[in-house]
Amino acid sequence: MCGIVGYVGRAQAAPIVLDGLEKLEYRGYDSAGMAIFDGERIHITKSVGRLKVLQELTHDGGTMPGCLGIGHTRWATHGAPSDENAHPHFNAKETIAVVHNGIIENYLPLKKKLEGRGYTFRSETDTEVLAHMLDYYYKGDPMDAIIKVLHRVEGSYALGILFADFPGELFAVRKDSPLIVGQNKEGCFIASDVPAILRYTREVTYIENQEIVRLTADGLHIYNVDEEEVEKTPVTIEWDAEAAEKAGYEHFMLKEMYEQPKTVTDTISPRMRGNEIIIEELGMDDGKLRQVKKLHIVACGSAYHAGVTGKYVLEGLARIPVEVDLASEFRYRNPILEEGAMVVVISQSGETADTLAALRESKKRGFPVLGIVNVVGSSIAREADNVMYTWAGPEIAVATTKAYSAQLVALYLLAMKLAQVRGTVTQEELAGMMDDLRRLPDQIELLLNNKNRIQRFANRYIAARDVFFIGRSIDYAISMEGSLKLKEISYIHSEAYAAGELKHGTISLIEEGTLVAAVSTQPELYQKTISNMVEVKSRGAFVLAVTCEGNREIEKAADYVIYIPHTNRFFTNSLAIIPLQLFSYYVAVGKGCDVDKPRNLAKSVTVE
Ligand code: G6P
Repeated sequence: MCGIVGYVGRAQAAPIVLDGLEKLEYRGYDSAGMAIFDGERIHITKSVGRLKVLQELTHDGGTMPGCLGIGHTRWATHGAPSDENAHPHFNAKETIAVVHNGIIENYLPLKKKLEGRGYTFRSETDTEVLAHMLDYYYKGDPMDAIIKVLHRVEGSYALGILFADFPGELFAVRKDSPLIVGQNKEGCFIASDVPAILRYTREVTYIENQEIVRLTADGLHIYNVDEEEVEKTPVTIEWDAEAAEKAGYEHFMLKEMYEQPKTVTDTISPRMRGNEIIIEELGMDDGKLRQVKKLHIVACGSAYHAGVTGKYVLEGLARIPVEVDLASEFRYRNPILEEGAMVVVISQSGETADTLAALRESKKRGFPVLGIVNVVGSSIAREADNVMYTWAGPEIAVATTKAYSAQLVALYLLAMKLAQVRGTVTQEELAGMMDDLRRLPDQIELLLNNKNRIQRFANRYIAARDVFFIGRSIDYAISMEGSLKLKEISYIHSEAYAAGELKHGTISLIEEGTLVAAVSTQPELYQKTISNMVEVKSRGAFVLAVTCEGNREIEKAADYVIYIPHTNRFFTNSLAIIPLQLFSYYVAVGKGCDVDKPRNLAKSVTVE
């Protein structure tokens, strides 16, 4: 999971490449590099560390003249972060340079073969194999060499390639790793993702598997592996460049939290017309939907947590059985899928390798797959039978907030639609729920505006060692996400527990002063959760409660209470998550952590 950028045109390439890489740092940031053709030969500058190291080394690109270049931000897979392992990689003669996002799975046998032919390797990467293979097959025709290499490598890749013999051309190709291309009056661009080139063009073309692109200053041509030209229509990206910038917030994460009211509105409003839920993208009429007997939700990370909430909502509202799986487990457990099953994969990026593999496994077995995806044109979006997009826009912070919130409401809509066709809710109930959904954005806003109080509270826990999040039923689902948010950005150990399960082991970890965040939004479970709060409080815990307005009784058992406004009991997670996000954010800020780019994590996990 790395980011690649490339440019060929009339402007100086290096600053454009650096600018693009900056927008892709969320994809990888342990090292960065550029290869620029200066009119005579290709020069590479690369370094371990953040992109700013490369910016300094090259004086913001000033030391690298030339109008053709490629760049890379790395998230190490093969070989630790180091100068040698940073991309681009050269062939021995330094006439071919490659940047790569993905993994070449058969790189070891290929490397052995190349070594047998006299090639020596300077790095431990799988990518360097590509540079030498291109060298081996290159006999004056870059396309021919690229195609020969494609036929021999297994795995995933998006590549940007320079050939010194072709000083005005940039080559690119992909398989199972994202690649887009774009063009403006000055030149042409390649990138792993839209924000990298949005400043230069809004017309973007998504490259499909094993398509090869040949770009010059004047235009680009796309070919299949038989070298036949492929006609493709660019997509107009509606996001403005501002949407991908921080817009004045201290961190992308905070900015994205504040975008949640809009995200929720954008995701629900096109699907609510009058008193009806209309999800055209499901590609199924009511009759077909009625035939769905069971749902399998499959996802990773926060998307999985959205799926856990989805299970409670779908089962509760539509009375349809739901299994939720981590994609990395689902793909290898030979899951039992029976007639009438539908698989729902959830993914912000649409590129998560395990989720994509689960999708393929389900399709292979002949089951329909619905994708709930944020990135238009991503692999999951393209491969799923039907796609329900979350309209969260680009999310830059590694820790998801707005995309997660959009996933939640997409699942509510799905549950309501299924409930409607299965007749498990009345028309009045449905209308009431739709009103509640429409109120969510304002209620989220209200909670966000309470940030100062949460910041003050968070400041007291900067030195915490362990934090526990507890809840029952749907509140357990949100505890999982609250706990993940805290640990991923603040590096404080944290666990989520079903409140009733505490006494089976976890309670032994409670010490004097341990923070326990108890979420309790389900009226029929208030008393039960209060009992669990009392259990931990009497063992020394400091109890933070998140509950619904009016539940004053909780103050007996909690040391600190955050109230959320009233909504339908199935929608409370959309509100309860807000104070938990803010809490994690301010603890991380207070500790001086790199909030948007937590150590060891990547936004888009395109490897297993
Ligand atoms: C990574 C991200 C998480 C995300 C997960 C799944 O681990 O850091 O925030 O939830 O991948 O990503 P997806 O793009 O499939 O939602």
